Order: sequence, then C-alpha cells, then structure tokens
Amino acid sequence: MPEPGTPVSDCPAGPSGLTLSPRAQALQPSLTLAIAAKAKQLRAEGRDICSLSAGEPDFDTPAFIRQAAATALEAGHTRYGPAAGEPALREAIAAKLSTENGVPTRAEQVLVTNGGKQALYNLFQVLLGQGDEVLLPAPYWLSYPEIARLAGASVTVLPTEAAQGFRLQPEQLEAAITPASKLLVLNSPSNPTGMVLSRQELEAIAAVLRRHPQVAVVCDEIYEFLLAPGHSHHSFAAVAPDLADRVFVVNGCAKGWAMTGWRIGWLAGAPAVIAAASALQSQTTSNVCSFAQYGALAAVSGPRDCVQAMAAQFNERRTLLSEGLRAIPGLQLLPPEGAFYAFPDVSSYGLDSMTLCNRLLDAVGLAVVPGVAFGDDRCIRLSCAAAPATISDGLERLQRFLGSL
Ligand SMILES: Cc1ncc(COP(=O)(O)O)c(C=O)c1O
Repeated sequence: MPEPGTPVSDCPAGPSGLTLSPRAQALQPSLTLAIAAKAKQLRAEGRDICSLSAGEPDFDTPAFIRQAAATALEAGHTRYGPAAGEPALREAIAAKLSTENGVPTRAEQVLVTNGGKQALYNLFQVLLGQGDEVLLPAPYWLSYPEIARLAGASVTVLPTEAAQGFRLQPEQLEAAITPASKLLVLNSPSNPTGMVLSRQELEAIAAVLRRHPQVAVVCDEIYEFLLAPGHSHHSFAAVAPDLADRVFVVNGCAKGWAMTGWRIGWLAGAPAVIAAASALQSQTTSNVCSFAQYGALAAVSGPRDCVQAMAAQFNERRTLLSEGLRAIPGLQLLPPEGAFYAFPDVSSYGLDSMTLCNRLLDAVGLAVVPGVAFGDDRCIRLSCAAAPATISDGLERLQRFLGSL
C-alpha cells in the first residue's frame, strides 16, 4: 500500500512499458481510506490501535431495510435495471426532496448513483471541462478537488477561518468569481468541520449567485440528518427556488441510514443535466445493484425513527469528543454543529498535520486524519463514529501524546 498522500505517479509502475495517463498520474488516492487501511494493518500486526479516522457510522443498517433488500433478492431483482435507477426509487427520492427538503422534484430529475461519490463524479463530468473553475470553500471533503480535476477543471480554493465558524463569506465568494467559474460546492453539514449553514447564510450566498448566472451550485447534503441540538438543515434549492435550475443536490443513504457499503446515492436537478449524467452512467457503471435499490426504497420511503435514533447517539458522542478536545490545553476547537467529526487546530504544537498524525499513530497508536488532506494543515480530523469508550480512549491517547511534545 502506498504511504498516505502518495500521488499515483509515485506508486510502483505496473508491467514494464506501460505508462499511466496524465489523469491517473495526477490522482491522489483517498487519504482517509489509506489511514484506515494503515491502522487496520498495524492492528493485524498485533499493535494496540485506536482509530478515530472512520468516515462511516458504526451502526448496522436498520433491520427493515436489510429485510426489504433480502426480499427483493429472493423475488428475483437480480438483473439489469434502468441505468438511472428503479422507477419506484426515483419516485421515492423525488417525493423525499419535495416534502422533506422543500425542493419540488419530479422522478425524471433524479439519478440513482453508486453512492454520493458517483453522483458528484457524474455531475462534474457532464458540467465541467478544460478552462472551467470549481469554487471550493476550504476546509473541504478531500474527494472534491480530485473529482473536479478528473473532469479537467481547475479548483479555486476559498479558505475559511475557524474564527468565522469556517463560514464562506459572501464578499469572499463575490471576489473569487470569474467568467470561468462554473460550479460552487456547498457541503452542509460539513465534513470535516461540522459547520452547518443557516438559512440566512444560504440566502446571502444566493444573493451573490444571482449576479453570476454562469455559476451552478452543488449541495452535498449527505449529513443532513446529523445535526447538533439547535441546528437545522436547509436545502439551498428550497431557500433560493429562483435558482433551482442551476442547483444540484447530492445525497445518499450512507451516513443517515448507516448504509455505507450499499453504495446508494442520488443526484437531483435540471432534467437535461440528469439525462446527460444518466447517459454517462449507462456507458460506465450501469444501474446500481438492483436489490440494494429496494433496500434504499424502504429506507427513503420509511419512517425516520431509526435515523433519528442514530442521530441522537451521534449527538452524545459528538459532545463527548468536543468536550474532551476542548479540555486539552493548546488545542482550539470550533464545536461541530453537525456530521460526526471534530476538526481542532493543533498548530500550536508546531508540527504539520501529516507529521503529527504519523507520530500519533506510531507513538500512541491513535489513527486520525491530517487536516492537510482537507485543505487546512493546522488541523486534524477526529471522527466520533465510534463507541463512546473508543472516543474516550482516543482522547486519552491524544492528550498523552500532545503532553509529551
Ligand atoms: C461530504 C461527503 N460527501 C459525499 C460522501 C460520499 O458518500 P458515499 O459513501 O455515498 O459515496 C462522503 C463520504 O465520506 C462525504 O463525507
């Protein structure tokens, strides 16, 4: 396995004579997956490892969802289906968006994808090309820049500060827009900071975008159900319905319903773009696993009790993690408002984030993700998608390590 952060171009070559495409050479493998793999490997070697690096719920998928997929499997839903998704699931997602998110949506505006990741990939591929710019507020989820560059676009990073709650400032957005700006990425609740954009903040962003009709928006709402008390999720397309024809929603079952391995996501937006993304999907991966889509149908159209029960547990764990971090001297934390991460600033210890994370793993067996992967080298990302005892163990290891510096 390559060291975390190693570009593909530095990886051992394949059979002699083969060269990788420039596109592949420029690709950074996912650092979160690499760290999780390294932690697993060390554990397999007998090391005592505590991992707070996970980006996935540690809960089982609720039983009624598993049952719906099993029933579909037994009923013979084992063949190719429509590339854009099972009609019943597209209908259910459209109904969810219309009623739960306040974004009036028809089934033809929905594409069922292999996770939120493929929704982003397909959208970027059909909207972007050489010369286009993606506006990306930082800290950002690490796959956005890679997916943008795979589409040939360049990335304009808009840094945000912890002192301003990691919030994109409207005047900062205004100043960054050029005629080549094609797509703004909004991710609320945010991975890695846990920042949740309020309705007023979304309205201020909409006011800027009304002046720049060439800029579309992708709203990654994959953590919509994971909100700290006092915070609510607002869909940008519901806040600015006049911009709906250039707003795209990305979401999925992974985080809210604990279905990461099922690979169910969706992309919703203007019919012509959805048709293009469906055509792309029909020539690449085809339909998402047929019987998995029936599990997703049960999830999306079912009651939200299971989602709320898991969200309540994440709230307790987020508080445990935040309070523990805030008790560590020299570490600055903006309390996360959603998702299941904390992103403290550890720069006062004088190490870059990659060095700090490598040393944490070697010295005290704690796996967390360096902030550099998310565009902020001052911070590290810790996940609270772990049992409370694991979170407490991780906090103790972190405190012990930082105390030794
Ligand atoms: C912000 C964000 N968007 C999208 C995804 C992709 O989710 P999926 O597993 O549905 O592809 C993730 C997963 O970590 C994420 O953190």
